[in-house]
Amino acid sequence: MSNPTHGNVLVVGSINMDVVTPIKKLPLPGQTIMAGDVQLIPGGKGANAAVAAARLGGTVRMIGAVGDDAFGHTLKSNLVNEGIDCNQVPMIKAISSGTAVILLDADSGQNSIMVSAGANAKVKASDDADVYTWANVLMMQLETPVQTNIDAARRAREAGVTVILDPAPACDDLPDELFAACDVLLPNETELATLTGMPISSIPQILAASHKLMERGSQHIIVTLGPRGALWVTDNHNQLFPATPVKAVDTTAAGDSFAGALAANLAQGKTIADSVPFALAAGSLACTKLGAQPSVPTTDQVLAFMQQNVS
Ligand code: RIB
Repeated sequence: MSNPTHGNVLVVGSINMDVVTPIKKLPLPGQTIMAGDVQLIPGGKGANAAVAAARLGGTVRMIGAVGDDAFGHTLKSNLVNEGIDCNQVPMIKAISSGTAVILLDADSGQNSIMVSAGANAKVKASDDADVYTWANVLMMQLETPVQTNIDAARRAREAGVTVILDPAPACDDLPDELFAACDVLLPNETELATLTGMPISSIPQILAASHKLMERGSQHIIVTLGPRGALWVTDNHNQLFPATPVKAVDTTAAGDSFAGALAANLAQGKTIADSVPFALAAGSLACTKLGAQPSVPTTDQVLAFMQQNVS
């Protein structure tokens, strides 16, 4: 399924500046509330997963775009400083960089996110065959155009690359050709419900919805279940992996850290069964700090956390 394993991860995805606003309670329509101090923090589902893959053992290239504005300069240089190859991340003139307004519930660490795509809407799959043959894993999400994802996934597949899609943010009208070009899908429960229109309130229901989703093409579904862990489902096998509970400060980028960790591990030739516990630990640790990219852990931190929590 994959090229000789070198840990090479190609990420096609979004790059956003997160405007993080701590609040006590979501405002009602027409209501004004006071918030805590706003912070500008690098984020974007694609960039977060790229940073996670880079900090967790992968060699990472990114296909994305930013605006030629102050956010764009900061976001791109931040990724370059992480050792991520950004030669395929143009700074586009006359368009804003992607921006996400994040309302962070200061007590629970839960968030509500509104994304303005900006330059992310202009991302195109590379035509350079070498970009795909270089990779062991292609990692994508849904904050870039669907056609871009389909084009990249097809080219990667032709090059024997394992294709992972985190279908976030989910929508219910995605074309079958996208799923048919992916090997592994990483929905959370809400995304699984959106993609299938099926109930997901119990493990048997999640299994049934996963099998329904699998009919559209992917052979592996890994459903992330928040603090309950993750459920790996294939045609003839399923396995529940528990997560270690943590006190959540901010859950932003927990899923992206999981995705990046999984991508880095699979790119190094590890199995899904061996990779999921590591990815869950990375996701849990990301919940313990404020912000998206600042909260992504390193390999040493993940291994120490796993060691401390051996049962
Ligand atoms: O998954 C978290 C990310 O979603 C944030 O960093 C925000 O930019 C949005 O893309």
